[in-house]
Amino acid sequence: MKAPILDSVYAAEAFQTKGHQMVDLLSKHLKAAQKSTHKTIPYTDPETERQFWQQYPEKQDFQTLVQDLIDRSIHVHQPKYIGHQVAPPAPITAVSSMLTSFLNNGSAVYEMGIANTAIERIVTDQLCAQLGFDTHARGFLTSGGTLANLTALLAARSVKDGTAVWKNGYEESLGILVCEEAHYCVDRAARIMGLGDKGILKVPATINYAMDTTALEATLEKAKQAGIQVFAIVGSAPSTATGIIDPLDKIASFAQKHGLWFHVDAAHGGAAIYAQQFKQDLAGIEKADSVAIDGHKMMMMPALTTALLFKDGSHSYQTFSQKADYLLSDADHEDWYNMAKRTFECTKSMMSIHWFVLLNQYGPSVFDEFVSALYQMGRQFAAIIQKDPDFELALAPQTNIVCFRMVQKQLSKQALNTLNERLRFALVQEGSFYIVQTKLRGTHFLRVTIMNPKTDPDTLSALLIHLKELAKPILQNLK
Ligand SMILES: Cc1ncc(COP(=O)(O)O)c(C=O)c1O
Repeated sequence: MKAPILDSVYAAEAFQTKGHQMVDLLSKHLKAAQKSTHKTIPYTDPETERQFWQQYPEKQDFQTLVQDLIDRSIHVHQPKYIGHQVAPPAPITAVSSMLTSFLNNGSAVYEMGIANTAIERIVTDQLCAQLGFDTHARGFLTSGGTLANLTALLAARSVKDGTAVWKNGYEESLGILVCEEAHYCVDRAARIMGLGDKGILKVPATINYAMDTTALEATLEKAKQAGIQVFAIVGSAPSTATGIIDPLDKIASFAQKHGLWFHVDAAHGGAAIYAQQFKQDLAGIEKADSVAIDGHKMMMMPALTTALLFKDGSHSYQTFSQKADYLLSDADHEDWYNMAKRTFECTKSMMSIHWFVLLNQYGPSVFDEFVSALYQMGRQFAAIIQKDPDFELALAPQTNIVCFRMVQKQLSKQALNTLNERLRFALVQEGSFYIVQTKLRGTHFLRVTIMNPKTDPDTLSALLIHLKELAKPILQNLK
């Protein structure tokens, strides 16, 4: 049977031509992005964008198709991209993405992904050692921080409550403790697990948005009085909105005292375990039972890849298993190489390759350099804001997340909220910079995450000047 379309789909020559064309276009884009010669975000409203692609010519010339996709996407390699916590991927990991997409090996069972499975063990062992865990620790990679946090809490429930819920459903009320400032995915994970409102015990934050550990005993006692059996506590390193790290060491002591599982959501800042200057801010992380670290945030990798690391590796085998029959003490039977026994995913991308390529080509100090540059730039931006009377900081940044707002003496709190909200939207529509926003205790703040080591103080000063220009017509309307 003739299959002309399939023949051309799989033609090696066409692959070579199109591959080269795409790399050429992306390299050109990278150079332009680093010089900020184009908009950072080419914003269009969703319906206009939908229509553009709906009416897109069939069988478009491939280079035009790639160029259109580049032109109509947000550009994370621009130094003026300072919005969400998404890394500008190290270009070599874009190359490894092509490799892994092409090879398309899995990792559910060892023989479907021989190299990437062995490599996954090596990179997660490396991370465990860097965390300060001993050789009983084990980890695996999974598709994102959200899934990693859910998997960690499932493991925690299994270890702390036995297999009761897994087998019989809930026969008693279970709960977790987490700071009110934690990422929403922890709340979502708890609800997916069926803990409900009453099982999510929100610990208040201090004035500085970190977990208030002085409130822990009372929160736990209240839960006990309500008949809730708390099995875990989650610390954030840092929390998303403000970039402030919970006091992990104090949380670890509390968890130990009460026999709770201690999980650290270090999706954003876990990479700081490599940063000589900043790793002390994570003190106590080595006492956690489990830690989640995103590769696609502060480790320069493409989405999605997250490491979930367990201090006692045998716990990682209990998440989805009624019988803990892969205990590490029985080393002969530890089939660490059949990943699907421990991960949510069955098919999973060859994500370990990105970690390995970076470590192999640049060494672990690349993560130190990256995190340190971005955290230092967070502090420099704070200093720039403090010198400008038209802006105020929400709080001193601890990481590369900086919250600030425009202030004008004559405006009420409500009007200032409106000003900053409109300012942010005006900036998105205009497109030269990309920043985000957050509401902290009722006050609207602009929020910046410095994700690109090429973002320098001049870029950040230019942002403030630009915001002042954009604010002029908005202020006219507010008066
Ligand atoms: C602290 C924290 N945890 C979890 C997540 C969710 O991670 P992911 O987007 O990889 O699912 C985020 C994302 O911003 C985060 O900041």
